Amino acid sequence: MKKVKVLFVCLGNICRSPTAEGVFRKKVLDAGLQERIEIDSAGTSGWHIGEPPDKRAIAAAKGRGYDLATLRGRQLVGDDFRVFDYILVMDRENLANSKAIAPSEFSGCLSLLLAFSSQSRYSEVPDPYYGGDQGFDTVLDLIEDSCDGLLKDIERNAL
Ligand code: 4NP
Repeated sequence: MKKVKVLFVCLGNICRSPTAEGVFRKKVLDAGLQERIEIDSAGTSGWHIGEPPDKRAIAAAKGRGYDLATLRGRQLVGDDFRVFDYILVMDRENLANSKAIAPSEFSGCLSLLLAFSSQSRYSEVPDPYYGGDQGFDTVLDLIEDSCDGLLKDIERNAL
């Protein structure tokens, strides 16, 4: 059976997209779909290649039962568009930078993650890197909510 492949993308791949990877991994596991859905994350920049997530992201996620400690940063590459079915970005800058390297034949879903959210106050996941700890909780709130919508969409349209 073909797997559905999901990639989360932010700027550094050390705060938002690894958080999304960890949250979505747990939701997929809880739904018993771990054999059907593959999950990864990447950054549009190459600034943190090989690095673990930001300590604040690891701590905030751990507080809600998600383990990010073993994840490592990597950069988004054009080939990702040949591999992944869903590429979910955190903000419009990520979207523009992803579109810029997407091959024209890409036929999957390249979208803001918050397009799958149940709330309408935020359309982008705010970058928490230069802010305080509260920012990482907001990131988790937005990502948990939108990952529920994303999983429903995949179950309905892609499995
Ligand atoms: P992320 O956050 O895109 O959510 O991983 C950032 C991480 C690092 C930097 C900026 C944003 N940075 O400037 O190094």
